Amino acid sequence: MKQAIQIKENMYWVGVHDFQLRHFHGDLFPIEDGTTYNAYLIVDEEITLIDTVEEEFMDVMMERIRSVIQDRPIHNVIVQHAEPDHSGGFVKFMEQYPDAHAYASNAGVNIMLKQYFHDYAYRKVKTGDTLCTGKYTLTFMEMPMIHWPDNMMTYVKEADILFSNDAFGQHIPSYDIYDEAHGLSKCLDKAKDYYANIVMPYGDRVLAKLKDIQAMNIHIDMIAPAHGIIWKKYTAQILEAYQEFASFAAKDKVVIVYESVWHHTQMMAEALAEGFGRNGTCVKLFQYSHTSSSLIMKELLDAKAILVGSGCYNNAMNPAIAGFLEKLKSCKVKGKKGLGFGSYGWFNGVTKDINARLTDCGIPLLCEDILAQNYTPSEEDLNRYMELGAQLSKEIKKI
Ligand code: FEO
Repeated sequence: MKQAIQIKENMYWVGVHDFQLRHFHGDLFPIEDGTTYNAYLIVDEEITLIDTVEEEFMDVMMERIRSVIQDRPIHNVIVQHAEPDHSGGFVKFMEQYPDAHAYASNAGVNIMLKQYFHDYAYRKVKTGDTLCTGKYTLTFMEMPMIHWPDNMMTYVKEADILFSNDAFGQHIPSYDIYDEAHGLSKCLDKAKDYYANIVMPYGDRVLAKLKDIQAMNIHIDMIAPAHGIIWKKYTAQILEAYQEFASFAAKDKVVIVYESVWHHTQMMAEALAEGFGRNGTCVKLFQYSHTSSSLIMKELLDAKAILVGSGCYNNAMNPAIAGFLEKLKSCKVKGKKGLGFGSYGWFNGVTKDINARLTDCGIPLLCEDILAQNYTPSEEDLNRYMELGAQLSKEIKKI
């Protein structure tokens, strides 16, 4: 029998592990070890469930719930987020607990109605609204566009716990449910991965929300997100890390992403990388088609520059690189510089096109040089690219 895990007096994790998942949110976010969908049960005079799980795992969640309350009723269900990884099981839940009162933000109610069609007489809540369940008071905090219009968090002051939904999530599926079992660096690295791939475009919102949380002057003993482990020992560190992520705090680091059929663009990438790397800039070099796109996004988050290279195919850039640039545009990165490069045969337009697209992404160019190589780079050409990398390393330090 699946059991709940007690996380505080009268509070339980009743979520599920999805160990086999390798593609989170379709193909958008490749992951290595699976994830969790976290739901939480608060047992008070009124019993409250915070979020549900993916529909296919609902039986597991129900089993965990019943391990605590057996056949007692659930009075309230909080829909902190309507995205199906958290609301997919909601309809099944309501079939089993038809008298439960469902709470969601205004945007959440609208989305739930459009996704599941049936009106469950939702109770709309906004920031500052509370729900008293007996000895606990749940205070709702909307966090629109972190990362959907409807997301919200729930704070329980009597227990000093913040149920943060997607915020502060990470893909660490484990029965060791607290951060300390995994160590600070792994937890922050996984949180960075999650932030870069899910939350990055909404940094301004995150900074404003962190300010709101600070202004509320609340004590947070535990942060319980909707994915991964619960922050208990490292709450201060994850709050600080989010401040850094959202500010695009960057190191002397450059990410080079390229695609190359006959290795000529790759030779340019490697010469540039050597120039940067031998002059004090951390270099991350990725052939796009050989690399998890989520790793590239994570490395990009704290880089000062992105170099994008492509050979020329049918008078255009490699379609994979075009897709990467499209993704880059949607990420709304700030404070970074960029540069295109690539080898061509009989059409010299791709590097200029990459540079134009980088500029369109809000990424100004690192320099005015057009790094377009006709066919194979000679030794002299490679030395020139290496020297340029060395020079640009100095520019990187000024950003
Ligand atoms: Fe974990 Fe936005 O869903």
